[in-house]
Amino acid sequence: MKNKKTYPAEVFLNDKWKKPEDAFVSVFDRSFMFGDGIYEVTPFYSGKPFRLQDHLARVRYCLQEMSIDFNASILEGLMLEAVKRSSFSSEDAAVYLQISRGKAPRSHFIPEDAEPTLLLYAFRVDLSNFKNRFWKVMASEDLRWHRCDIKSTALLANTMANDAAISAGYDENLLFRNGVFTEGSHTTIFFVKDDVVYTHPEDRQILSGITRKVVIELCNSLEIPLKEEAFPVAKLSEVDEIFLTGTTTQIAPVSSVTIEGKEVFTSQKGEITRLLQEEFIKRTRR
Ligand code: PDD
Repeated sequence: MKNKKTYPAEVFLNDKWKKPEDAFVSVFDRSFMFGDGIYEVTPFYSGKPFRLQDHLARVRYCLQEMSIDFNASILEGLMLEAVKRSSFSSEDAAVYLQISRGKAPRSHFIPEDAEPTLLLYAFRVDLSNFKNRFWKVMASEDLRWHRCDIKSTALLANTMANDAAISAGYDENLLFRNGVFTEGSHTTIFFVKDDVVYTHPEDRQILSGITRKVVIELCNSLEIPLKEEAFPVAKLSEVDEIFLTGTTTQIAPVSSVTIEGKEVFTSQKGEITRLLQEEFIKRTRR
């Protein structure tokens, strides 16, 4: 069964808080026509932001890569306000924000005078139950573009990959390109083999995940060897543990991976995943 989602009570659009039913964007907004925008999801643990500056730095990076001229310094205050206004000040929540290039007559070239459109809202999310949930996943070819480092709202290849998984009863779709895993449809992938942790290097094939960064820091402080190396699909059956990370996913152990109907990997939660989960909880619930 697909998990039904709900709308927030209010959203911030450009310069005002509005009810979603009163918030409108032009049909000529380039996010509608081209997916020409960027987005960000920032977690708030018991009302407190986690790694907010990292999320804001990624927004700035994406704006720069997309040449969208937007003053990101207004975002922090609005994110905190969104959580407060939604009465999530002591609850787990997240803030979604997106900045599109704005409205302009349709053209493939980038218009010079479009005013960016900002949408921002807080939503409730359960960040306390990730430890005991196992993810059963499938894997398929990565059909996305070659700028996956940009957190673009143009997510069609991701949503199609994710829907293929959910519709078939899986929790996520792990993507591979040229014989190596890149990332999940909305998660970063980590493999553990012979007590060494592997994850794809930071480049244009993956999003530079904030949770990925935290996990790398945790491995360093726990002295767990980690290699930023792409992991080959052919070696999947030799793997001891797999876990996925993301802002709302946190650290999720993978119990099985199926490729083209064949279960290639099965495991129960391993020691390294468990250790990292415990350290992650200490950091997020300080
Ligand atoms: N997804 N890779 C992809 C393709 C993602 O979409 C995400 C996050 C991640 C993990 O990044 P982070 O740890 O910074 O959340 C990796 C977000 C949460 C989403 O699309 O809702």
